Amino acid sequence: MSNAKRLAGEKAIEFVEDGMVVGVGTGSTVAFFIDALAGLRHRIGGAVSSSEQSTERLRRHGIEVLDLNSAGPLALYVDGADECDPAKCLIKGGGAALTREKIIAQASEKFVCIIDQGKRVAVLGHFPLPIEVIPMARSLVAREIVAQTRGQPVWREGVVTDNGNWVLDIHGLAITDPVAMETVLNQIPGVVSVGLFARRPADVVIVGGDIIQIM
Ligand code: A5P
Repeated sequence: MSNAKRLAGEKAIEFVEDGMVVGVGTGSTVAFFIDALAGLRHRIGGAVSSSEQSTERLRRHGIEVLDLNSAGPLALYVDGADECDPAKCLIKGGGAALTREKIIAQASEKFVCIIDQGKRVAVLGHFPLPIEVIPMARSLVAREIVAQTRGQPVWREGVVTDNGNWVLDIHGLAITDPVAMETVLNQIPGVVSVGLFARRPADVVIVGGDIIQIM
């Protein structure tokens, strides 16, 4: 599996152009992308990072990390996912970086998602759906999730996001309408972000070393 992740990370380099400021996601697949990006560090304008973990790796390779507010809209965002459906909708946030990932995905013209074959599913939801919550709203959000979905929220105890918040993972969902589910969950007070990337799905999906067209 890690070979497939490496192949996907390296393949995504084909989307990087000279002078670009590249949006960079988080996770073990993205780590391979960052390592490959290091070879282009003198040709790119820098990177915008979605986590402290990725920032540390980028800087270790001598890649300049820029603030999104000053970088402005980005041409390219490269990130992994926990699940990907045929419409390129994603579950993300297994690494608790979903909020910054979602911000950068929204700010980017092209979102290239890098995964291994095991992440492809017909219907999202076997992987528990991460929700970042304001700590004081944890119980409220969990009750609302139970009332509004068929899912069971579980607190990812001990995990604090880079934004100082907590994560609930919703188990037992079969997300047949990802846009509707994302919209409903977004409305619950105390929810910071929903790890469902359906309103802004990926544009391109790379599985292992192959760029695939899935509809
Ligand atoms: C980080 O919060 C996640 O969204 C990752 O993109 C996702 O968990 C994929 O991680 P791996 O590449 O490590 O499988």
